[in-house]
Amino acid sequence: MNGDFSAPKGIPDYFPPASADFLEVRNTLTDAAHRAGYGHIELPIFEETALFARGVGESTDVVSKEMYTFTDRGDRSVTLRPEGTAGVMRAVIQHGLDRGQLPVKLSYSGPFFRYERPQAGRYRQLQQVGVEAIGVDDPALDAEVIAIADEGYRRLGLSGYRLDLTSLGDDTCRPQYRETLQQYLLGLDLDEATADRARINPLRVLDDKRPEIREMTAGAPLMLDHLSDSAREHFAEVRRHLDRLGVRYEINPRLVRGLDYYTKTTFEFVHDGLGAQSGIGGGGRYDGLMRQIGGKQELSGIGFGIGVDRTILALQAEGVSVAGQGRVDVFGVPLGAAAKEEMVAVAGLLRDAGVRVDLAYGDRGLKGAMKAADRSGARLALVLGERELEGRTIEVKDLSNGEQEKVSLDDVLAQVASRLV
Ligand code: HAM
Repeated sequence: MNGDFSAPKGIPDYFPPASADFLEVRNTLTDAAHRAGYGHIELPIFEETALFARGVGESTDVVSKEMYTFTDRGDRSVTLRPEGTAGVMRAVIQHGLDRGQLPVKLSYSGPFFRYERPQAGRYRQLQQVGVEAIGVDDPALDAEVIAIADEGYRRLGLSGYRLDLTSLGDDTCRPQYRETLQQYLLGLDLDEATADRARINPLRVLDDKRPEIREMTAGAPLMLDHLSDSAREHFAEVRRHLDRLGVRYEINPRLVRGLDYYTKTTFEFVHDGLGAQSGIGGGGRYDGLMRQIGGKQELSGIGFGIGVDRTILALQAEGVSVAGQGRVDVFGVPLGAAAKEEMVAVAGLLRDAGVRVDLAYGDRGLKGAMKAADRSGARLALVLGERELEGRTIEVKDLSNGEQEKVSLDDVLAQVASRLV
């Protein structure tokens, strides 16, 4: 360890040059949502603990094992947000956004916190871009949400991912199915822990990755075969829209998500280049959440959360680089005090015109300064020595081919602009 401190375990830092990829991924995914009319919501980093306990579900790992919960100085229990959907729903109810035009379409991005065991692709502070569309239960909206995520990934250049899709039914068919499944599972010769899970959340047993459990549950009843007529029609319509949109998916009737609020359409984007942490994004529809956290109405919503960190890892696994540009366009190299004074002003002039500029600070010699210029990724270097200054000229060097030209100092903006196009 360098120094006395390091970031807490499982908490990543983002710094140049990798932070440029981070911004590009976050912005590209957010732009895809904005193009479909989603407005930005900035959520609090922490909320009342009960919001997540009730919204996400007491029996989930996220709530029962992974929350960063503490008591504040006013003796209130608060929790660092482990996900975004409950907070969005809380804000919609609190501010009466559901009394305006529906659906309420919101997007968000930022850090979320889960006390998980850190490993590659699994952090205790994770970054998501998410969208939620609340108030209209229309299969076309489910398809829109899924298509936004798909478009975001494609625009980034990602291709080796798969979309798993299923329906978890609604409150007219899920309770009966749950019972049927539970009975089936408790009739098997399961180990104690798995039998316990079957009692608490039988659906999760279907997602068990252990081969012996897979084998035992191979003939288990599946939700997709027990959907109500309306849930079945809803799911069929989502698939028709996705087909028309050209979004490819695979039906995965055993898909189970780690949060309790899902109903009907449920999905996960999976990338095989990531090892165990293969989920790069997921989401679905939630019918009961608004009621669950005290809303007067019972409005359905649908949304996704995309893991920005895992998307970056997936891009790296595919060898796709997203942030192609260097840090700046122009790097100024002043030689001597008078030249530095002039160069600082030139940099200001260029930045005002929208050109990205950095300078060699600290009076380094020409060689060191040119090395810094190369490292900066700039297309052009501007070299100003005392001789040039006397003649009101400046040397413009194209760093991609080494070509160099003396131009008038008073014309520097136009000269730089014409070379950067
Ligand atoms: P989630 O599946 O829990 O869903 O998280 C969404 C994504 O966040 C995951 O697919 C994964 O890429 C990323 N992620 C989750 N945990 C970690 C971690 N420990 N380290 C790195 N990345 C992680 C939700 O959070 C829902 N709120 C999504 C949603 C929105 N559903 C409806 N609306």
